[in-house]
Amino acid sequence: MLIFDFLIFRTKKLTCFLLSRFTNILAGKHIENSILGKLQASSHKLQVIQLEPGKLNTRKLAACSLRLVASLPYLRPMNKEVVLSGIRPTGFLHLGNYFGAMRNYVRMQDEFNCYFFVANWHSLTTHPDTKELKNSVHRVIAENIACGLDPEKVALYIQSDVPEIAELYLYLNMMAYKGELEKTVTFKEKVRLQPDNVNAGLLTYPVLQAADILIHRAVKVPVGKDQEQHLEMARNYAERFNHRYGDVLPLPYAFNYGGELVKILSLDGVGKMSKSENQMNTLYLADEDESIRKKIMKAKTDQGPAEPNAVKPDYIENLFTLMKLVSTADTVQKFEDDFNNSSAGNCVIRYGDMKKQLAEDMIRFIQPIRAKAADIQQNQDLLKKIIRQGADKARASASETLTLVRTAVGMDY
Ligand code: TYM
Repeated sequence: MLIFDFLIFRTKKLTCFLLSRFTNILAGKHIENSILGKLQASSHKLQVIQLEPGKLNTRKLAACSLRLVASLPYLRPMNKEVVLSGIRPTGFLHLGNYFGAMRNYVRMQDEFNCYFFVANWHSLTTHPDTKELKNSVHRVIAENIACGLDPEKVALYIQSDVPEIAELYLYLNMMAYKGELEKTVTFKEKVRLQPDNVNAGLLTYPVLQAADILIHRAVKVPVGKDQEQHLEMARNYAERFNHRYGDVLPLPYAFNYGGELVKILSLDGVGKMSKSENQMNTLYLADEDESIRKKIMKAKTDQGPAEPNAVKPDYIENLFTLMKLVSTADTVQKFEDDFNNSSAGNCVIRYGDMKKQLAEDMIRFIQPIRAKAADIQQNQDLLKKIIRQGADKARASASETLTLVRTAVGMDY
């Protein structure tokens, strides 16, 4: 771990200045005594030698060396790990996004120091036409809030409002090699889908994603299963950077409260639910009631299990997963029991009934989100205020990291 040495001085007003070799980082930054207390308390992130300002005279203080780890988040709430995640504004948000990612965001906002953003630069790699982009960005912000994110508790921002990300992306590009980028699963998939637009942004998509995460020195990244490889790549770039320039970037890990990362299947059981493909097989947070009913009633099922306690096929497991999300525990248990009590030629579970119940419970779940998101989207002044506030919070954190990065690289002229 890279450790900086700091000298501490004390003024009459009991305000401390921290000075360091990295004067461009800290010079003149006022650190209140209360914050110093917190610095001392957060011992696992930070080693600070015991300071007792009341007993120290100026000479002694001048010699008193504070040892702070590089990732010290001075201006952030202490003792809270940093969390970051993002969503591309490439279409309507769906249950996969909610269940794989947003559900965790909402829970994490009370426990961690959270940054959530709309990945509009990433969307250009596959959606170069920007006519609908502004609307989509606003909708993603509105839907995040409608799902329970509180913009006062978290930084909710738009990627392109934080230019520091682009600079970190540039440094990290030097840590990324063409061969491994070409082997990335998402890259190969996109090459298949858009052979006429295999742009460099697409190739370096995981590098930009790493910059999104590392710019806040985030360690927990709530995402669905499809992002696992991108997280592994982000760790690789951080490790390579640290190895080459010094220990500045903590390693980020994918996170889900349940432990295992989630993958919600499309309702036809083929592939994952996604924003822009398979619209009839995707449940969107903006779907009308009738559309929800229609889609769920058409979801793939089969003739039922042939023996008690059979293993559920993926597409049936998926219906149960959705049911666990929106129905009561008793309802889920009833259908679990029906499934498990099946025996050869005697299928107890009626998928038609299960889907009817799921549709009604899903409508009850989606309806208030849809209504709230629509309200927020109408209120352009509110949206603007939230976006500005989010950008300010995100830039404050991003510029601290970038200063550390530039210093480490030797770009601190
Ligand atoms: P995106 O926009 O495709 O999806 C947003 C989030 O939703 C999750 N997700 C799913 N989870 C379970 N089942 C599904 N069917 C499903 N579909 C989507 C995704 O895993 C994701 O968590 N590359 C990212 C955006 C991004 C990002 C980042 C994420 C850019 N920079 C930094 C985290 C950190 C993406 O395309 O997500």
